[in-house]
Amino acid sequence: MRILVIGSGGREHALLTGLAADDTVSDLHVVPGNAGMETVATVHADAGAVDDGPAMVALAQEIAADLVIIGPEIPLVAGVADDLRAAGIKVFGPGKEAAQLEGSKQFAKDVMAAAGVRTAAAEQLMPGATEEAIDAALDKFGPRWVVKDDGLAGGKGVVVTEDRMAARQHIDAVHAATNPVLLEEFLDGPEVSLFCLVDGETVVPLLPAQDHKRAFDGDEGPNTGGMGAYTPLPWLPVDGVQRIVTEVCEPVAKEMVRRGTPYSGLMYAGLAWTVNGPEVIEFNARFGDPETQPVLALLKTPLGGVLDAVASGTLDQLEPLEWEDGYALTVVLAAAGYPADPQTGVALGGEGLDDPAVVLHAGTTRDDAGGYVSAGGRVLNVLGVGPTLAEARREAYARVDKIDFDGALYRTDIAGPATEGRITIPEQ
Ligand code: AMP
Ligand code: GLY
Repeated sequence: MRILVIGSGGREHALLTGLAADDTVSDLHVVPGNAGMETVATVHADAGAVDDGPAMVALAQEIAADLVIIGPEIPLVAGVADDLRAAGIKVFGPGKEAAQLEGSKQFAKDVMAAAGVRTAAAEQLMPGATEEAIDAALDKFGPRWVVKDDGLAGGKGVVVTEDRMAARQHIDAVHAATNPVLLEEFLDGPEVSLFCLVDGETVVPLLPAQDHKRAFDGDEGPNTGGMGAYTPLPWLPVDGVQRIVTEVCEPVAKEMVRRGTPYSGLMYAGLAWTVNGPEVIEFNARFGDPETQPVLALLKTPLGGVLDAVASGTLDQLEPLEWEDGYALTVVLAAAGYPADPQTGVALGGEGLDDPAVVLHAGTTRDDAGGYVSAGGRVLNVLGVGPTLAEARREAYARVDKIDFDGALYRTDIAGPATEGRITIPEQ
């Protein structure tokens, strides 16, 4: 199988690494890729923008790809999967209409309402909303306000605050960018990311993971794309994954089929485990970043066959997935100034940069001398795997210490609360 992966982040480096270990995969290509992927794939850095459907079709045809895997949300929401399918190319990833599950938070709320899935109560405020309407909406929520940009924002368009003024300012900022705002009820409880392979009504969960969204230790600072993640979750009830599948992902998959827009690809349910059990914070139409990095580190079943089964519409015939025992964890090394104003062009060195079992690359490129330099907000993902979460964590941080990256911003508490037994499920 010759496979083209679209994307350039740590998630795509993890996908490529998993695919490279699959004997049925003969040849790997990536667009636009990053410097760390050169060892596993042919990197097509200049083949066009990832949301340029005709350019992606042309590249897939030029290399005669048997399967295209779309990593990020932007090409999915732009309909690149539809363009590829129209050209007769097999794709892992939903078409434009189904990708609205991520692209429009209001669409996702409508689907959940129809499917009877629990989620935060919400109210949409369009640009141009009156002072009175905004005040009335703020009165309904609180004392913790959740203010979202109802457009694609990569998790960075959300402000969660106890300060009404700050909530108000974010509403104005989103409206100034001519996007609608979604005001939401605050969901209180530990967060879970569950990735499910979905092919019509067939739903196959991967291991549950937890991301750390805030920039600084102790969940302080702004929301980011994700600063680290671990899997599985020692604090989750034993039937936790099954409950999320039957209470959330299967009803949504069924509703998408009922609407005539069946879902095919990865359905990412971002949840809070509240007093009511799992409640949806958001859906994404793709693998999460950075959760994919530790989740795939534990997958034993060859990845190419798994993703090909979804793309071929034969997921119902796939053998149960097999997983390594133990835990995996990733620590994101981000650029100084991330997420607001990441500093780029910083030299990267030390140990592990060429071993995808140790470091997965995100925003990296090469300088004139061929050395690695930073080129984005999230730069490297350092992995640790171990029989216990504490050992996986120790390994990841020991590896972080061996990397040279001046000014790197990273959290020192990834999986800290979980290893210390400080995460509890609210009583139902
Ligand atoms: P989102 O882009 O919707 O994933 O939001 C980013 C992050 O903001 C989530 O991972 C949560 O940490 C937080 N968040 C978003 N919505 C809510 C909510 N309704 N209740 C509590 N936290 C939320
Ligand atoms: N880990 C958050 C995301 O992928 O959206």
